[in-house]
Amino acid sequence: MSENQATLSADGKTVEMPVRSGTIGPDVVDIRKLYGQTGLFTYDPGFTSTASCDSAITYIDGDEGVLLHRGYPIGQLAEHSSFMEVSYLLLNGELPNQDELAEFTRTISRHTMVHEQLSTFYRGFRRDAHPMAIMCGVVGALSAFYHDSTDIADPQHRKISSHRLIAKMPTIAAMAYKYSVGQPFLYPKNELSYTGNFLRMTFGVPAEEYEVVPEVERAMDRIFILHADHEQNASTSTVRLAGSSGANPFACMAAGIACLWGPAHGGANEAALNMLKEIGTPDKIPHYIERAKDKNDPFRLMGFGHRVYKNYDPRATVMQQTVREVFSALKVNDPLFETALRLEEIALSDPYFIEKKLFPNVDFYSGIILSAIGFPTTMFTVLFALARTVGWVAQWNEMISDPGQKIGRPRQLYTGPTQRDYIPLNQR
Ligand code: CMC
Repeated sequence: MSENQATLSADGKTVEMPVRSGTIGPDVVDIRKLYGQTGLFTYDPGFTSTASCDSAITYIDGDEGVLLHRGYPIGQLAEHSSFMEVSYLLLNGELPNQDELAEFTRTISRHTMVHEQLSTFYRGFRRDAHPMAIMCGVVGALSAFYHDSTDIADPQHRKISSHRLIAKMPTIAAMAYKYSVGQPFLYPKNELSYTGNFLRMTFGVPAEEYEVVPEVERAMDRIFILHADHEQNASTSTVRLAGSSGANPFACMAAGIACLWGPAHGGANEAALNMLKEIGTPDKIPHYIERAKDKNDPFRLMGFGHRVYKNYDPRATVMQQTVREVFSALKVNDPLFETALRLEEIALSDPYFIEKKLFPNVDFYSGIILSAIGFPTTMFTVLFALARTVGWVAQWNEMISDPGQKIGRPRQLYTGPTQRDYIPLNQR
């Protein structure tokens, strides 16, 4: 890492601040001493110009549309790898050899069951509860069941809780679905793959054998890979911030799930499919494009635009391909796919979207695939949470292992009243 200096002059004072370089990507100005030396804070709501940590996990070049996990391009991982392999890579920094992958997969498969008592939690929810509401509650409750792995200072505890979270998330997610449709919960079957197991627990019933369709299993696994991590996005930053206080990992993941639920983040896949349904046929597209461009209309094209990508989201490219594969394996077609393709084409030739560099993101096509597989829209964000758990866990572990780690505590520009005296109630 090379070190340069940046100079800031303010209030008649000049301060030198180190400029740090990573292995790739923009340099950062290290402003940690700024307040001490000048009495000034920086101001950056939404963190558009602020790096919050060092990280060696994921790199995004938003202008070029590049996404690397531990250096490997997402396109290569999606094509050649499996979700278990990518999980190992995110957690450990290197691709596993055959023995390491077999051992990791075996370990994860041995943690797939949840404490039997946990199933009674579901019964406390209304049947029509949003599954993300159930996920927030049940994942947060895990720390009440797994006390033996909540010492965050112990690397072994951290490892076991990481494995537990990755392994149990499909079981918990499938149970949320089963509860909503009134079918019995299915126990995991560990001879199946991580993804095959999840599909069976979701769509299988105890009365019949469930046959995993290999193409669907592969597509689902790829969707998990595409969602596995995305550097310091809102939910990951939430997990890190929650974890910075020393909270246990189960509580941190519940915080991440809560943040992911929002329609500007993980909830966009549900919102994107609902939007496509609302648009319906291609002839209605121009009307919705006009609405998206109208400053006085809150409508936005869901599945379009990204804080970091100012180019085509590389995950959207893989998603679009995967739609065709799933349709051909299941011998289905969905006219909404045509609407989506046409919407993309019209938006990408419109000056508003060109100038603002708004391209389809990962969520634009994912809803069409998930719906073809049989998931209701309310489950879409749950699947995102399931896959992102490994990213959250890897980032949380990285933060806890960082010797320079501190509690996250932003400052503010105060705009409220200055000090004033209390007026008794009877005089107001
Ligand atoms: N449709 C219409 N206009 C848009 C859209 C959109 N989808 N996205 C951004 N804009 C406009 C926005 O109005 C603003 O215009 P102006 O400069 O004239 O005020 C400009 O583009 C910049 O937008 P911004 O909201 O300041 O950008 P941001 O970086 O804060 O927001 C975003 C990024 C993803 C929240 C936003 O693009 C958006 O709301 N997209 C729709 C929701 C969505 O698809 N989210 C999924 C993101 S990918 C999955 C994930 O990471 O969770």
